[in-house]
Amino acid sequence: MEKRGNDTRRSAPEGATPRHVAIIMDGNGRWAKRRGMPRTFGHKAGVEALRAVIRHADARGIEALTIYAFSQENWKRSAEEVGALMGLLLEYFTRELDELHRENVRILILGDIDGMPAGLERQQRALRDAMARTRNNTGLKLNIALNYGGRQEIVRAAQRLCERVARGELSPQAVDSAAFENELYTAGLPPVDLLIRTSGELRLSNFLLYQLAYAEFYVTDTLWPDFDADALDRAIDAYAKRERRFGGV
Ligand code: IPE
Ligand code: IPE
Ligand code: MG
Repeated sequence: MEKRGNDTRRSAPEGATPRHVAIIMDGNGRWAKRRGMPRTFGHKAGVEALRAVIRHADARGIEALTIYAFSQENWKRSAEEVGALMGLLLEYFTRELDELHRENVRILILGDIDGMPAGLERQQRALRDAMARTRNNTGLKLNIALNYGGRQEIVRAAQRLCERVARGELSPQAVDSAAFENELYTAGLPPVDLLIRTSGELRLSNFLLYQLAYAEFYVTDTLWPDFDADALDRAIDAYAKRERRFGGV
């Protein structure tokens, strides 16, 4: 096994722990509404939940954690809510990057950083800086999907392959699943073993359409700000009991 950030891990038997967990962190707005508070209050609480879940994923020996932070469709929300989310994003990286780096976490942003609307240059810089600073880290692979769309990611991969073919670097016959996966944002990461969605919605919302092909789904009614280390343990326990067949018998 590769060198890890710390060694308080592998509490479950080998194979029972998913290598790659993806999370659709949903329900911040409803969490706030239940408390008679603005949606932004829920997003703030959501960031705190995220901090705890990252640490616990690392402690459980999960190799890669991919979280859905902001979809390409989330720009449809009010300017106020989008502004608050982008503010939290900047604050998150300002506050957490040193610690994540110390903990040997490698950060990768999945999504179109260049395509973020004007006025978010500080956010763009913070995202690029987080990736650059942590790129050689060997601990938890933390992937943050931001301005991300699964369909767009697949179309982008097709485009990039077409460009390579047009440049004469690749023959059309050489376009196979490995070549295709290499052009996805998740190139080099293991396939997703476990997908968690909080707040009970039974849909993918354009998340990792390619990578989830054989993932196990775990949906909980818990709203994201209430999701914690115990909740992650419950999801991993449920995963450990699944029988994965991959089309076999
Ligand atoms: C998830 O919570 C956070 C983001 C999408 C950024 P929501 O904001 O979608 O909360 P609900 O689903 O409206 O409760
Ligand atoms: C998915 O949640 C996106 C993120 C968690 C960032 P949404 O709240 O945007 O999804 P829908 O609109 O309920 O499908
Ligand atoms: Mg939602």
